[in-house]
Order: sequence, then C-alpha cells, then structure tokens
Amino acid sequence: MATNKAKIAVLVSGGGTNLQALIDAEKSGIINSGEIVLVISNKADAYALKRAKKNGIETLVINNKAYSTRTEFEAKLIEAIDSRNIDIIVLAGFMCILTEDFTSHYPKRIINVHPSLIPSFCGDGFYGLRVHSAALDYGVKVTGATVHFVNEIPDGGEIIMQKAVEIKDGDTPEILQKRVMEQAEWIILPASVEKVANQIINK
Ligand code: GAR
Repeated sequence: MATNKAKIAVLVSGGGTNLQALIDAEKSGIINSGEIVLVISNKADAYALKRAKKNGIETLVINNKAYSTRTEFEAKLIEAIDSRNIDIIVLAGFMCILTEDFTSHYPKRIINVHPSLIPSFCGDGFYGLRVHSAALDYGVKVTGATVHFVNEIPDGGEIIMQKAVEIKDGDTPEILQKRVMEQAEWIILPASVEKVANQIINK
C-alpha cells in the first residue's frame, strides 16, 4: 500500500470533465501515486466544484476578478496551495493565464491539458472551443490533445504526452471538442498525472 501519495490540486473554471476523468482515474487505480486533495475554481458557478464536492474533495473559489492585480490573485493561489503542501498542480480547463510569478514557484510541478497538438493552435487566445474552430478553419485533418508542464510561456512548457484525433467531414467545434476529450484528454491527462506523481514520490 502506498502511504506517501503526491498531493494534487486541480484548478478549474468550467464544466470539469477533465477533473471528473482524474477523479475516476483515482477511483479505478489508474492514478495510484497521487490523491486529489483540493479543487480551486476562479468561478463560483463552475460545475466542476459540484463534481469535487460530490466526491468529498475540498473546494475553494478564488475569483481573479476580485483582485485588482494579477500578482494579488496569484499570491492567493500560492497561499492556498502552499498551506496544504501540494506537490502537483493540474490545470484542467483553468482559463486564467499564470505569470512567471506563479509558475516559477513550481518548476515541473504544474501540468496543463491543451486541446490541440502543440505547437499547433496554442498560446495566447487559444482556449476552449476557439482551439477547435481554429483547427477546422485551417483545415487540418488530424488534431488531438497535449499534456505539458507549465512555464512562463503560454502552452510552451515541456510536453509530457500527446494523442492524435481524427477530424471528420461535417465536424463542428462542439463535435470536435467532444471527440478530442473522449479520445485524448480524458486518457492522457490522468496517465500524465500518474507519471509525474510516481516520479515525485519515488525521488
Ligand atoms: C478542455 O477541452 C481543455 O483542454 C480546455 O478547456 C476544456 C475544459 O473542459 N483547456 C484549454 O483550452 C486551455 N488552454 P472541462 O472543464 O470539461 O475539463
């Protein structure tokens, strides 16, 4: 029995299907080296918070709009994370860009899932359905998802895992988003979290 699991905080803003994939992966043993102990949302009405509460996970709302500077907002996040001795921070649909003030505190400890094959359709302004619209507008035939470490460059940190997904005739951004989630994000995010957690506890 693993006694020392890595403590995981998941940062969310919306529906939280990736959070759900992580919760399910912990239950099924795909994630065995870490445990989700905290979910932070920048939005009070994020459905992801309900998913966390239903599973007995501590939740916090830290609203970016309640702070006049990004530094203050990030300081609040850091305080919440450090006071709970978090080892891994997972950005699962967290729609705030984090500056170097934040990312430099946690080198190789922040993981993000992005719904394209980086370096395509990524960086500033590419989030959520916009990513899938951009892929369809360009006309690529293959897209996918990427899980990567987070550094000060938006979507620019070291890649942990990627998975390709086919684009089909008639796809809309919504249809494509769902396929990318089902066939890529919900698989490689838990697998990546387990990989990183395992490395941390065996250090
Ligand atoms: C996911 O598709 C995730 O990859 C994307 O937002 C969605 C969140 O869904 N993230 C980004 O675009 C980050 N640049 P969820 O709340 O159901 O997990």
